[in-house]
This record gives sequence, C-alpha cells and structure tokens, in this order.
Amino acid sequence: MESVFKPDILNGKTALITGGGSGICFEISTQFGKHGAAIAIMGRRRHVLDAAVDALRSQGIRAIGIEGDVRKQEDAVRVIEGTVKHFGRLDILVNGAAGNFLASPEDLSPNGFRTVLDIDSVGTYTMCHEALKYLKKGGLGKDPSSGGLILNISATLHYRAAWYQIHVSAAKAAVDSITRSLALEWGSDFDIRVNGIAPGLIEGTLGQQKLLPKEITETRKGLMPSVRLGEKWDIAMAALYLVSDAGKFVNGTTLIVDGGHWLSQPQYISKEEVKKISKIVEKKSRELTVGLPTSKL
Ligand code: HXC
Repeated sequence: MESVFKPDILNGKTALITGGGSGICFEISTQFGKHGAAIAIMGRRRHVLDAAVDALRSQGIRAIGIEGDVRKQEDAVRVIEGTVKHFGRLDILVNGAAGNFLASPEDLSPNGFRTVLDIDSVGTYTMCHEALKYLKKGGLGKDPSSGGLILNISATLHYRAAWYQIHVSAAKAAVDSITRSLALEWGSDFDIRVNGIAPGLIEGTLGQQKLLPKEITETRKGLMPSVRLGEKWDIAMAALYLVSDAGKFVNGTTLIVDGGHWLSQPQYISKEEVKKISKIVEKKSRELTVGLPTSKL
C-alpha cells in the first residue's frame, strides 16, 4: 500500500533500527527510507543484514547494515558510532530487536526468562543510553534547537496476561516503563521525544509464526478464536506518525496498533438474548428491592 505521508517528511534524518533487517522493523526501515531518511540497521546475522540493505538500496534508499547484539554494550557503542561515522548524525533510534518463544513458567528456566529481558528491556535501555549523546539537542550534526526521537517496539501481552508469555510480558512491561521514564527525563532535559508502539499480531512475521504456530492453528480450525491480523505497513505508518512532526506533541505514549484485538473478550451472551432478558432481569431486581429500606436500594 502507498504511504499516506509526504515523501520528504524525514529528509536529512538518519535512523538506526535494531532488528531492522526483518519483519515489522524491516518495513519501518523501508518506509523511513522512502520518506527521506538514511537507514542503519543493526542485527546479529550478516546475511539478513546484507539482504535487507540490498533491498533498501534497490529502492534508492541510503542504507548500511552493522552487525551487533543489543545485549552487548560494546556492540551498542560500536554500531551507534559506526552509524554516525557513516551518515554524520543520528536522529531516530528504533528499538525493535526482541526475543520470543512460547514456554510455560514451570518449563522456563530463569536463564530463559533473563535472556528475553536482556534482549528486549536491557537491550532497549542500553541502546538509548549509548545513543543519548547524538540524539540530544545540540548533538553532533543536530540543529541546536531540537533533539531526536526514540521509538520502542512493545506489545499488548502484559496489559492483562498472556499464556506462555511470562518472560515477554515482563520484558515489554519494562520497555513501556522505560518509554515513560525517558520521555519525562530526556524530554525535559534534552528535547528527545520517546514513544512506543504495541503491535498486535502482524501477518508474515516471526512473531505470528512463534505465537500462532501453523502446526497448531492448522489442526485447530474452528476451535481457535479468529484473530484479525495486521500488516507490517500498519505499524510502519504508526511509526512514521510518531517520529515525524505530525507527532510533535506526543511524548511518553505507547500507541496500540492491533485493530482493537487486546480489548476482545468472549461474548458470553448473544445480542438477541440480551434483548430478551435484560428488561426481565431489571423488573425482577426492582420487585426484589421494593420494601427494602432506602439505604439498601
Ligand atoms: C523454553 C527456551 C526456549 C523455549 C530458549 N530457551 N528457547 N526455554 N522454551 N522454546 C531458553 C534456553 O533453554 C536457555 O536457557 C535460554 O532460553 C537462552 O537460550 P539460547 O538459545 O541460548 O539463547 P539465544 O541463542 O541467545 O537466543 C535467544 C532467543 C531466540 C530469544 C531464545 O529465540 C532468539 O534469538 N530470538 C530472536 C528473534 C525472535 O525471537 N524474535 C521474536 C520477535 S516476536 P537455559 O536455562 O537452558 O540456559 C516478538 C513478538 C512480541 O517479539 C509480541 C507481539 C504480539
């Protein structure tokens, strides 16, 4: 689908996107590039980075890929420095690198739990911490009057609770908290806007594959609740909104982009039943309360 934004809204900006070589974050890389930004993507696998950079360059986007693991502080420093060395500045940091697998708490070792928090939560914090000197107002190559932007990719799993996702839920809850704390402190001190996106299930991603494995869904047709899947494009458009001037007064929020899925609940009573029984229940409850002292009504 075509973008709804003008193609020059990110002209002159440089964005570093962790996990930007695949899935949702590759679409964010592509859309940021198509709207004028130079793109640096960070990831652990060289071949994924190379394929992503080729695809971006073939669309006329200035792009580089730098290998690194967000769990390693030295990698964070090297990738950020490499980005600034290549493009001369850093304006937007997208923290998209994440880890996920399904596991029940009794089968999840503390190291498994820690691994996901290390990638999602500590990794996000580390990248923000190391990028600050470039993102802040007056940072290298920046207009002295305005700072940069951080966008943290989160989830909705922790708004209630999600089966087999205790580790990811805890990790994303921490990410949302980091978003708010940095928005408060770095918004005031350094003019950096910090926001998040909580995507729902997005078609054709590793997240979809991991959370709704085909091996299960194909044998459970009819039993599985129908989930409307979003497109990577939906998340990239939300990202563009948040990092462009369209979102200039938005700070510290995590935008849910899931088609309303996290609100869904089983419909225990049909609309027809409600029509039939609601008035009867009301009438009965009035009859029951008649004669009671007003304090009990
Ligand atoms: C139980 C598991 C496990 C599993 C790993 N572990 N997989 N435990 N069930 N399926 C445990 C291991 O036993 C080990 O603990 C610990 O986790 C570390 O495992 P490693 O394999 O050594 O870790 P590593 O090689 O670093 O890999 C990290 C990873 C992996 C998270 C496990 O899946 C990964 O690299 N993922 C990156 C890509 C990814 O998953 N992206 C998902 C994005 S989707 P012990 O105790 O044995 O040492 C997403 C969607 C969010 O984020 C929600 C949207 C709605």
